[in-house]
Amino acid sequence: MATRVRWLGHSCLLLDSDGQRVLIDPFFTGNPAAPLKADEVEADYILVSHGHGDHVGDAVAIAHRTGATVISNYEISLWMEAQGVKKVHGQQHGGSHRFPFGRVKLTLAFHGSVLPDGTYGGNPCGFLITCNDGVKIYDAADTGLFGDMKLIGEEGIDLAILPIGDNYTMGPEDALRAVQLLEPKKVFPIHYNTWELIAQDAHAWADAVRKKTRAQPIVLQPGQWLTV
Ligand code: NI
Ligand code: MN
Repeated sequence: MATRVRWLGHSCLLLDSDGQRVLIDPFFTGNPAAPLKADEVEADYILVSHGHGDHVGDAVAIAHRTGATVISNYEISLWMEAQGVKKVHGQQHGGSHRFPFGRVKLTLAFHGSVLPDGTYGGNPCGFLITCNDGVKIYDAADTGLFGDMKLIGEEGIDLAILPIGDNYTMGPEDALRAVQLLEPKKVFPIHYNTWELIAQDAHAWADAVRKKTRAQPIVLQPGQWLTV
């Protein structure tokens, strides 16, 4: 079956590729935009982009229940082990590793990463995922705009997933510039409308992307799937 991505509100994504379920930044408990509860989701792998509570979220509980392997930066992988998570995989920026669903490379992200209990969470990251069917997905996670998105784009992105909420991450204008640097085939926005502070008009943003880039913008509702 074709690679699919489901937006589960805020920055939470479920990638379904080659029979593997990859949950990214699993924030359900306390997430007003989550269409599911933490105990309703299944996962083979869990990717965590940085230490903040709205990204680590329910990762520990879901890993315990499902036996999923947690993939993150090295510091967060050690923290996950300390929480009793049995299967963890630590990487660092620029490094990639092959998993049954494809290859994951950690990319730069300009943000913070302290863990919920105050532990140092290393540096925040985004994910460049090359699925077994060749589909390339870039999840920028929480970041400001940076010029090296141009380098990431040179890999040939099928789908970019970008924050537009502003305040904590890129806002709509910088996210539009990110699309211009990345030149993805498709793009959809995340990390907005979860709370009033990051409220944005995603349709207005999509119109700007359509006018000023060659990318196809898609606005998903939480819970909706996109076939890449
Ligand atoms: Ni954050
Ligand atoms: Mn966040």
